[in-house]
Amino acid sequence: MTTTEPITEPTNGTDAAAEAPRRKRMLTGDRPTGKLHLGHFVGSIENRIRLQEEYEAFFIIADLHMLTTSNSRAAIDQVSANARDMVLDQLSAGIDPEKATFYLQSAIPEVSELNTLFQNLVSVPRLERVPSLKDMARAAGKDEMPYGLLGYPVLQAADILCVKGDVVPVGKDNHAHIEVTREIARRFNFLYGDVFPVPLLVESEITTLVGTDGQAKMSKSLGNAILLSDDPATVRRKVVGMYTDPNRVRADIPGTVEGNPVFQYHDAFNPDRVQVDDLKERYRAGRVGDVEVKDTLVAAINAFLDPMRERRAAYEKQSGLVDEIIVDGTERTRLEVQAVVAEVKKAMGITGTYNQLRRKAEQARKRRA
Ligand code: TRP
Repeated sequence: MTTTEPITEPTNGTDAAAEAPRRKRMLTGDRPTGKLHLGHFVGSIENRIRLQEEYEAFFIIADLHMLTTSNSRAAIDQVSANARDMVLDQLSAGIDPEKATFYLQSAIPEVSELNTLFQNLVSVPRLERVPSLKDMARAAGKDEMPYGLLGYPVLQAADILCVKGDVVPVGKDNHAHIEVTREIARRFNFLYGDVFPVPLLVESEITTLVGTDGQAKMSKSLGNAILLSDDPATVRRKVVGMYTDPNRVRADIPGTVEGNPVFQYHDAFNPDRVQVDDLKERYRAGRVGDVEVKDTLVAAINAFLDPMRERRAAYEKQSGLVDEIIVDGTERTRLEVQAVVAEVKKAMGITGTYNQLRRKAEQARKRRA
């Protein structure tokens, strides 16, 4: 296959492809650290499902990004299983494998090449102002910022721009990263000519979902997540154990709806607005017990997850299908990325550098012959 052959020179085919009208592209994805949960769904996946109709969809499995906070051999050994889980979660949620392309970041070395070239388009103080990086360093227990983690948004810019992504649906903690991507795209175009679109961030309606324990954010590592792959009994157990208004020790004590995670989930996942409004009203008045509020939530979340469970079962029956989807997608994406990186190096004059040396060397060789 030509996919494994390095491209040393831009071909005419590259230019023709660049000029042909093409569908606008969406690029987004996740680090392969585990299964996806309801927070991922409202933060990004819901948008992915909607946008796949309008845009050509690319989904990255960002294992190089994972290394910025988690690079033990044991963590790396988990990546293929986690990648499979994550892709299956997305297919079950409603991403159409006929429309979407999934790819493994580390299997496309040209992404790293683009990262190297982009590193000179942004300053260290600019990256030091990206708030999520300090949070990630702290969460990973690092006293000092790793060089790779500081460069996280630059690598992310390479991910997005390596397929000339036009729109990027991501959760709130990634918004600042997309701003860096936009700056890099503009800076590149200013220095070397118009190569990249300046991608648009697509925000979701609900930017973060609280955890079942009332912590600010649902997160698998905090143990406060409801997974898209949880079975009905697990959903029940997790909802029954949810944090609610701590002042409300009895059903006849008026409770607070605002900021109460149980009602935030009702708002997000219960389509029966009449029921939700009625529960809120009675909760405020001290005329409903937690059991009823939670039972109705269990039913709503399970009804929400049921179609996903059906799709998951159908995909799981086809052994190796998910692996095939990832490998085919990676090969297809690599061809795209090689063309873009060739265009980038040509625009920067880097291709010319070696071509000039090569021409002279060839002439010298001929003279000697
Ligand atoms: N930063 C994303 C996360 O928080 C993962 C990611 C890597 C990504 N590259 C991307 C998201 C490109 C959108 C676009 O896990």
